[in-house]
Amino acid sequence: MPFTANRQFKKSPRMFVAAKDMHYTTSDGRQVLDGTAGLWCVNAGHARPKIVEAIGKQAAELDYAPAFQMGHPKAFELANRIVDIAPDGLDHVLFTNSGSESVETALKVALAYHRAKGDGSRFRLIGRERGYHGVNFGGISVGGIVSNRKMFGTLLTGVDHLPHTHNLSKNAFSRGEPANGVELADELERIVTLHDASTIAAVIVEPVAGSTGVLIPPPGYLKRLREITKKHGILLIFDEVITGYGRLGTPFGADYFDVVPDIMVTAKGLTNGVIPMGAVLVSAEIHDAFMTGPEHLIEFFHGYTYSGNPIASAAGLATLETYKEEGLLTRGAELAKVWEDALHSLKGEPHVIDIRNIGLVGAIELEPIAGQPTKRAFSAFLNAFEQGYLIRTTGDIIALSPPLIISESQIGELIDAVRKALRSID
Ligand SMILES: Cc1ncc(COP(=O)(O)O)c(C=O)c1O
Repeated sequence: MPFTANRQFKKSPRMFVAAKDMHYTTSDGRQVLDGTAGLWCVNAGHARPKIVEAIGKQAAELDYAPAFQMGHPKAFELANRIVDIAPDGLDHVLFTNSGSESVETALKVALAYHRAKGDGSRFRLIGRERGYHGVNFGGISVGGIVSNRKMFGTLLTGVDHLPHTHNLSKNAFSRGEPANGVELADELERIVTLHDASTIAAVIVEPVAGSTGVLIPPPGYLKRLREITKKHGILLIFDEVITGYGRLGTPFGADYFDVVPDIMVTAKGLTNGVIPMGAVLVSAEIHDAFMTGPEHLIEFFHGYTYSGNPIASAAGLATLETYKEEGLLTRGAELAKVWEDALHSLKGEPHVIDIRNIGLVGAIELEPIAGQPTKRAFSAFLNAFEQGYLIRTTGDIIALSPPLIISESQIGELIDAVRKALRSID
């Protein structure tokens, strides 16, 4: 099983058999409130009628069309709808089937773009400590989670990392963006000085690092990265696999922080998690750099059998319609204050050493049990599940990211379940 304690699971399986709106149903018939939008992806809640209907209809009408040298209308329609809600300047789309594939695609676009412009000496990729960019070789190379990297050899060469921005001693219990640490963006200047800008293709960061435990950047940090990358001709890639499609109360993290990258990586919420799909957005300048040479030649040697799959495209269109009809891309902003107050009411509960929040994302960091990292948070996860609440843990951090349809009373319920779990565990 993926990212699972296999032996523990098989001794005591936790199985879902159905889902509707905010709740899962377990194999023993219990209702479980989804505090994590599945895996940060079911932003509109479960089994939404428009999406269910679109998938069925599309399967009957056009189940599959070859992705290479052929097209179908819904992939183009979906690309246009994504561009409509994306920040100005990101106006071309490449489809993939996951966040990991979107990351690989973005990194390859960045390298090939410089080469297409005759600037092929730009081969270095800069990621960030504690970054998560999926599980493929490019993603784990620029990523910064040691357990995801240490078993897998040399990874990509020519990669360097910015420091992460998490600072418990200065920023614990910040509400929203933490005050300290903007100067960490200047580490990019140090890396540029070390390697020379002429060797650096791109910098990739998550606007808010999600999987590593909700690390929120200080005000001005992403703007500073944008300034430095622009100054040196380095592409800036935002990995918005989690922050995209309304999670922060804005359509994308780029909107929240008012910083437009050159490339934006998305997946998860694009289809409400229902059908695997990702989308990588690039600027016209990047797109146009490839559109040279004889017209019968393939311009970019990359793509997947399922890129822009018709059923995934139909699911994506129905998802974006649902978000629009229900105002979900900005609902997180309406709930943010209630969410923040509820989360921070956990201050002072047993084991809690930090609480963080932004949009409809929250994290509660726990003091690890000495010599047994991750055990305390895993116990909280099991306890909450027994109570009927799905939470997620990473290391000793509880991360919460409910569907954007959650009600205020359900927020209260979810936080009370976490409180009860914290009071129950060792
Ligand atoms: C920021 C980020 N990038 C990439 C990924 C990988 O996505 P996937 O699991 O769909 O490959 C994730 C998954 O959580 C993510 O959070």
